[in-house]
Amino acid sequence: MRSIIITGGAGFIGSHVVRLFVNKYPEYRIINVDKLTYAGNLANLKDIEDKPNYRFVKADICDFDAIYALMQEENVDGVIHLAAESHVDRSIKDPFTFARTNVMGTLSMLQAAKLYWESLPEKYEGKRFYHISTDEVYGALRLDHPEELFTETTKYQPHSPYSASKASSDHFVRAFHDTYGMPTIVTNCSNNYGPYQFPEKLIPLFINNIRHRKPLPVYGKGENVRDWLFVEDHARAIDLIFHKGKVAETYNIGGFNEWKNIDIIKVVIKTVDRLLGRKEGEDLNLITFVTDRAGHDLRYAIDSRKLKTELGWEPSLQFEEGIERTVRWYLDHQEWMDNITSGEYEKYYESMYANR
Ligand code: NAD
Ligand code: DAU
Repeated sequence: MRSIIITGGAGFIGSHVVRLFVNKYPEYRIINVDKLTYAGNLANLKDIEDKPNYRFVKADICDFDAIYALMQEENVDGVIHLAAESHVDRSIKDPFTFARTNVMGTLSMLQAAKLYWESLPEKYEGKRFYHISTDEVYGALRLDHPEELFTETTKYQPHSPYSASKASSDHFVRAFHDTYGMPTIVTNCSNNYGPYQFPEKLIPLFINNIRHRKPLPVYGKGENVRDWLFVEDHARAIDLIFHKGKVAETYNIGGFNEWKNIDIIKVVIKTVDRLLGRKEGEDLNLITFVTDRAGHDLRYAIDSRKLKTELGWEPSLQFEEGIERTVRWYLDHQEWMDNITSGEYEKYYESMYANR
């Protein structure tokens, strides 16, 4: 029996992690703590919401008292911490919210776990605080040096307010291990894609725009490179590392799957066209080059050999299959998409792009 808080479980990656744990471990109690910001959506968890080992708690991770009380009430022995503000463009417009949630919220989770676990006779025995982070903390790699990859020892060099806030939260997590002996783990993952991603991120935004024949705003020249991993492979890695990872370690998680934005966009366009019965490539003319993102990191690429060597994890899905499944999922779940993109959000989206 374990009692695990998963924060941010109503978001994109969190919902996949919650689903995996609830289904795979019926003997565990899974408590999804989520504030339900614009990015949190309980519709992402419809299929498991009635399972007896699942509980949803609407709470802000910055609310130390609420988190501490919940840990006591549920005898929590594990935390998988995903809740965060996650969109780089929003962090450029509103960095304070990112510092509050990503830095202060993580600190509040750590302090609540520390005080609760230290109050128990067994203290940190059998406990685990697992923090989910990003490859963006390492900064950017060079385009003309494909041999360069982010490893677990790459220096932190965040460029955006988002990545600076995630870097700061990573440091706090490690500090709680080094100072108090808390059994922590940090993982840094590359770009995820798959079902249930909020349609402000490149792939779901573009799938929806192509469907509605709206322009596709490509930042700069579309030459930036990202390393794409199917979200269920990330969830599998989180499961493995939560159970088998070594305390105080960092693991990089990535797909060995680098794509230039413009190339992945063309693949998405052709896949949507084909699945909608349009002439393949007929929507390529929707590509619209717009002003670049400020401080836009040129290239991310993860070296995940440590995770493979030590724990035997590898991505299971070929990209061609993953992107086909992803596009098909969004086209088949138009109602999910419409519920998000109608009303208030539409106004927000238009204001985001009004001055580009
Ligand atoms: P998301 O934006 O889809 O979901 C974030 C979730 O956190 C939402 O459900 C939101 O309601 C919740 N949340 C936000 N602020 C909160 C608060 N103050 N209290 C409680 N809940 C709050 O994010 P995602 O893409 O699923 O990312 C999840 C985590 O994984 C983040 O920590 C992110 O930094 C990290 N990550 C994401 C990616 C990626 O490609 N998406 C890659 C690597 C790491
Ligand atoms: O690398 C991991 C990170 O990946 C996560 O930590 C973040 O939470 C997640 O949002 C993601 O960050 P990116 O900034 O890489 O993802 P995004 O989908 O916003 O953008 C992917 C690339 O596409 C990036 O180079 C910017 C570009 N882009 C994005 C959007 C939304 C465009 O050209 N046009 C767009 O409209």
